[in-house]
Amino acid sequence: MIQPAITGSGVFTPENIITNDELVVAFNAYADRINAENADAIASGEMEPVPHSSADFIVSASGIEQRFVMDKAGVLDPNRMFPHLRARSDEEPSIMAEMAVDAITKALAQAGRDASEVDLVICAASNHERAYPAVAVEIQSLIGAGGFAFDMNVACSSATFGIQAAADMVRSGSVKCAIVVNPEICSAHLEWRDRDCHFIFGDVATAVVIEPQANAKGAHFTIHGTRCATEFSNNIRNNNGFLRRTRDQMEDRRDMQFMQNGRKVFKEVLPMVSAHILGHLEDEGWGADSLRRLWLHQANKTMNDFIGKKVLGRTPEPGEQPNILQDYANTSSAGSIIAFSKYSDDMQPGDRGVICSFGAGYSVGSVLIERA
Ligand code: COA
Repeated sequence: MIQPAITGSGVFTPENIITNDELVVAFNAYADRINAENADAIASGEMEPVPHSSADFIVSASGIEQRFVMDKAGVLDPNRMFPHLRARSDEEPSIMAEMAVDAITKALAQAGRDASEVDLVICAASNHERAYPAVAVEIQSLIGAGGFAFDMNVACSSATFGIQAAADMVRSGSVKCAIVVNPEICSAHLEWRDRDCHFIFGDVATAVVIEPQANAKGAHFTIHGTRCATEFSNNIRNNNGFLRRTRDQMEDRRDMQFMQNGRKVFKEVLPMVSAHILGHLEDEGWGADSLRRLWLHQANKTMNDFIGKKVLGRTPEPGEQPNILQDYANTSSAGSIIAFSKYSDDMQPGDRGVICSFGAGYSVGSVLIERA
């Protein structure tokens, strides 16, 4: 068996930032508009008024301070409340592919590889902008890669599931230079008109290069093990899909965007993730005390603090479990890879860490790596 390694990583960050204050001003203006339009129904008790959001609540409940988005104006327009993305002809690169190419270019530069050497592209994300052809195949063409490409979707766990698939193919010898890329336009499937979740998501793209360790040209991380698990739950769900027209559901419906029961997710996913990481470490013969770093899925600061403490058996020291969610919010599958990409340069040979993502499905994936 061939030993796989992560030899490069890259992040594409959109230009536009929305702070919590900006978000809340727009949301409250929207709420005031809806309440004014429905003043009679509210006065007669037929309808509940839309309550205001609060920046203080957002920071204390989630740790999120701002998010990057592909379009800011549409999201902050109280008469619209979702992004406006320019329509593109079929001859133009699609927007997900464009974001992906930026992240891949950075990851390949770190690995010291030319795109022509790539023989696998997995576009692993929580939503894809069309059914077919696969966005991954378009990315393969845009960068000039060989081999083959495919899309996969395991919601927030897409990145680690993609890494497992790519690492297994490198291990077996069927591919030599794999890309796992995660372009996430979460702003397009977030319901910005729902105060319970309007602050949760942001946009980004991340990429990693996976190759046989023996081929690595520079500093890299040995992939010691990967583990994926799923367990069905409706607590994070989006009903949008290709049957929508057949069901006469083309109207603006709440369930066509992200829905979650946040409290239940919190309660059910935390034990699942902690047990998953601890079981993976034990089976690999790694003590938790041998971990230098945890690069966790970036959904909620309290959640990450809890998982870090459970896995390490103590409160993580500063830097042991880096969070990026204060700047990026939840970027679905990309979150743990942003943390890895931004906080791994200082790892010394022999330092070990775990990349872990989790979310809808439920799903959880862990990747045990060691700086070579
Ligand atoms: N501004 C002000 N108040 C708000 C608010 C907002 N934007 N959103 C909700 N509230 C209110 C609620 O209405 C509720 O009021 P009540 O107590 O009078 O009923 C109160 O604040 C608490 O709301 P709740 O939803 O219970 O907050 P929470 O502490 O559970 O935090 C989440 C909400 C979403 C941040 C949290 O549940 C979470 O992070 N869950 C897991 C998310 C996750 O990982 N999802 C995976 C997605 S991939």
